[in-house]
Amino acid sequence: MRFLQALSFLALWRAASADLLGDIESALEKAVDCASCHTLLTPLQTLAHLGNDDFVDTIVTICETFKLEDSDVCAGAVGEQGPILAHALREISATGQTATKFCDAVFGLCAPPAVNAFSVPFPKAAPAVPRAFASTGKAPFQVVHISDVHIDRSYTTGADANCSKPICCRNFADETGTPTEPAGPNGNSKCDSPIVLADSMLAAVRQFAPEAKFTLFTGDVVEGAIWLVNKTEVTGDLEAFNAQMASELHTAVYPVVGNHDSAPVNSFPRNTTDTTIDSQWVFDTQSAGWEQFVGSAAASQVDHISGSYSAVVEGMNLRIISVNTQYWYKQNFWLYDSDTQQPDPNGLLAFVVQELQAAEDAGQRAFIIGHMPMGKQDALNDQSNYYDQIVQRYKNTIAAQFFGHSHKDQFEIAYSNYSDQTASTATSIALVAPALTPTSGNPAFKIYDVDPDTFEIMDSRVYFTNITAPNFQSSTPQWKLLYSARATYGPLVTPALAASAPLDPAFWHNLTEVFAADASAFALFNTLLSRGGDVGACDADCQAAAVCDLRAMRAENNCDKPKPGLSFKRADSRRSVGESDTCEGTGIAHIFKNLVNMNGFGDHFKHVRRSERMPRSVLE
Ligand SMILES: *[C@@H]1O[C@H](CO)[C@@H](O)[C@H](O)[C@H]1NC(C)=O
Ligand SMILES: *[C@@H]1O[C@H](CO)[C@@H](O)[C@H](O)[C@H]1NC(C)=O
Ligand SMILES: *[C@@H]1O[C@H](CO)[C@@H](O)[C@H](O)[C@H]1NC(C)=O
Ligand SMILES: *[C@@H]1O[C@H](CO)[C@@H](O)[C@H](O)[C@H]1NC(C)=O
Ligand SMILES: *[C@@H]1O[C@H](CO)[C@@H](O)[C@H](O)[C@H]1NC(C)=O
Ligand SMILES: *[C@@H]1O[C@H](CO)[C@@H](O)[C@H](O)[C@H]1NC(C)=O
Repeated sequence: MRFLQALSFLALWRAASADLLGDIESALEKAVDCASCHTLLTPLQTLAHLGNDDFVDTIVTICETFKLEDSDVCAGAVGEQGPILAHALREISATGQTATKFCDAVFGLCAPPAVNAFSVPFPKAAPAVPRAFASTGKAPFQVVHISDVHIDRSYTTGADANCSKPICCRNFADETGTPTEPAGPNGNSKCDSPIVLADSMLAAVRQFAPEAKFTLFTGDVVEGAIWLVNKTEVTGDLEAFNAQMASELHTAVYPVVGNHDSAPVNSFPRNTTDTTIDSQWVFDTQSAGWEQFVGSAAASQVDHISGSYSAVVEGMNLRIISVNTQYWYKQNFWLYDSDTQQPDPNGLLAFVVQELQAAEDAGQRAFIIGHMPMGKQDALNDQSNYYDQIVQRYKNTIAAQFFGHSHKDQFEIAYSNYSDQTASTATSIALVAPALTPTSGNPAFKIYDVDPDTFEIMDSRVYFTNITAPNFQSSTPQWKLLYSARATYGPLVTPALAASAPLDPAFWHNLTEVFAADASAFALFNTLLSRGGDVGACDADCQAAAVCDLRAMRAENNCDKPKPGLSFKRADSRRSVGESDTCEGTGIAHIFKNLVNMNGFGDHFKHVRRSERMPRSVLE
């Protein structure tokens, strides 16, 4: 009897699920804009209510049927991130603003909604007379900035660098043929970093900055095999790189948590979310691993403040505030599980305010460090706006900000008035470090010269190793200076940068004026972006968009806004220098975006060729 009941239930369920599958496929086919994306959410919600397993199985089937990725990538990426999306879909209305944000993040089919007005509370008004930080002309000290190491501890010399996965140079179970392009020992542009490449960079840091006071590491330890990552591997990777930095660097280190430094990738639930998938283990691991660098008080903050901390540099009037930007990150899908807008997930905006107020009260200057720069389209517009309010309030205290994530050598300027962008309204500068991983250009890091009185940046030098140099694989990678920002850009602005002047927000603004007006100066910037390693063509429109983005520390002001309808076709999703990437790598959103990107290809819908898929993003 029970068996029969179970059988008929199963038959019913199968019938319902066949209908549901049809509904989803037809809604996917029609999903071309924001309204049709909202429509698509209804059958997806029905699927999510059947449970995480049904949700994952169905999406994996769709991913495999349309050959969006290899089977193992479909199964792994959807298996890991699918339950987070299913959780969100079960909690929200298909028609509300959170659903619009979901359609932006997951499908790229909605533009971000207008910013929800919110005034960040400040304990005190800005002082009427800001404290003056004057240089006495002392010799600058050095600070190192490394980022996005993405070390693949399963990198295998001789494995195929030409593969069908998001990253190669590993022995994948389903790749049994003879390698067409055997990986060299030191790295490849289709693979994340071998350990020896990281070793060679840390040795170059010792060589080129022997007297450096400290190193900023702006996150992303873990490789991009996001369909395979798990807690065990990520914990091991984080511990191994902490040990590598401790043994091979001669300086203090101030690290941050990156979006890849968790499993599933990008997974950082709010502290009020009821889930078994938490990320406290990331904070526990880094609290233990970073104590040797940042001290016990800051290490305790890492544990209790979602991976963030603040520390005063020994013997300096400088506070470093390290913030876990993943709670402001569009691809952290835990942020879409409530129709009530939550301005400050886990209280991290309040934490930054508290630490900046402490710095202001103590007469200190501050460096803010984080993984994701706040001006790109993968920063949530709401939180980017609120963050900008903090930057404006404490502009006199913040000497500079440091990020990674884009893998590119970039900067972002904040303005007191984004409608009036001039040297005199430029209030803060964020410097973005290039990546070690060779997937988006030549491996690189930066060394800054910093004024010991003002903590302003006097120079920024990029060092790199050339992965296409003929001897790259035959010896330890050789590193050398690529350029000095002061020497290269200082003479370009009018008037030319004075010998004692810092590279301050006004200077960077004036440089964007040069980039906007002078095609050859812009072409130089465009080449340096990837350290000459992955230079994209950039026409006049792209140049204008790139300049616009350099002037947008506030995400609502960047020029990456998705256009409705046709703009979601493949041609528009290709990355170029002028626009940030529209996909986050090969996660589930990448898969969903490819699915809707196929719409309008008509007959092609069921015959997808690999070449029609979105390129791998560098937004890692
Ligand atoms: C890469 O592999 C594909 C097939 O797997 C092959 O067609 C192509 O020629 C290879 N490319 C190189 C550069 O060896
Ligand atoms: C975690 O990932 C590693 C590396 O891919 C794998 O060897 C291990 O079996 C995985 N562990 C679990 C519990 O899945
Ligand atoms: C949880 O988040 C709230 C803000 O949403 C914050 O006030 C609180 O301190 C956080 N608690 C922990 C333990 O992180
Ligand atoms: C910002 O600049 C615009 C354009 O110059 C101007 O109209 C506006 O009044 C300015 N806003 C503030 C608050 O100064
Ligand atoms: C890297 O090496 C290649 C091959 O020698 C050369 O063409 C290229 O200009 C080098 N790149 C840089 C940035 O020096
Ligand atoms: C920026 O340019 C303006 C004029 O265009 C000039 O007055 C100012 O001194 C420049 N500032 C810096 C820091 O170069």
